[in-house]
Amino acid sequence: MAIKALIFDLDGVLVDTAKYHYLAWKRLADELGFFFSQEDNERLKGVSRVRSLEILLEVGGIQFEDDVKTKLADKKNGWYVDYIMKMTPDEILPGVIPLLEETRKKGLKTAIGSASKNAKTILEKIDILKYFDVIIDGNKVSKAKPDPEVFLLAASEIGVKPNECIVFEDAEAGVDAALNGKMLVVGIGSEKNLGHANIVVPGFQNVSIDSFLKLAE
Ligand code: BG6
Ligand code: MG
Repeated sequence: MAIKALIFDLDGVLVDTAKYHYLAWKRLADELGFFFSQEDNERLKGVSRVRSLEILLEVGGIQFEDDVKTKLADKKNGWYVDYIMKMTPDEILPGVIPLLEETRKKGLKTAIGSASKNAKTILEKIDILKYFDVIIDGNKVSKAKPDPEVFLLAASEIGVKPNECIVFEDAEAGVDAALNGKMLVVGIGSEKNLGHANIVVPGFQNVSIDSFLKLAE
């Protein structure tokens, strides 16, 4: 099957926003009176905002009613948005722009498949909206990764079949989501937690699209 589209997760694949999520979640944990480590933050990668808050509260050993949880998640998001509003194109991860340029030259379709409700703001701030035909973000889906909804919706909006897509993901739940959608998936990061992807690369530096397109042969 020939590959017609590439679907990119945003956070951790095109840009490193985990550091801003961490600063905002840590501020919330500080206010609530417990320590939230960078190691704990690893558990939030690829996970929705609501689920992230639940994990954070698990770490702190605290429980709240849903209305309080909504207020806490909103508070964290306000701080997070303050950080991302200051983002610039300098923060695009190495190798991303050459890869997106190559994608365009080859006539492949492109989509963003992200859990974040802030995806559009980030894409605008780092000025790469023009590289994407379709954007599916946390505002458009109801089921979080590892459910494949986000990637299946991206494929259907582009007008391609799942087996004509390659997904790029840095989170374990995201790799699972792509596989659950019967898509090929490139893990961005380490074999240790992404070993179930079809191939794993540390990042986009010194890689060519052809090496990924071969996965479909
Ligand atoms: C994912 C991030 O892309 O988006 C998660 O990896 C984050 O860490 C999730 O929790 C939701 O993001 P947001 O911006 O809607 O709070
Ligand atoms: Mg990610």
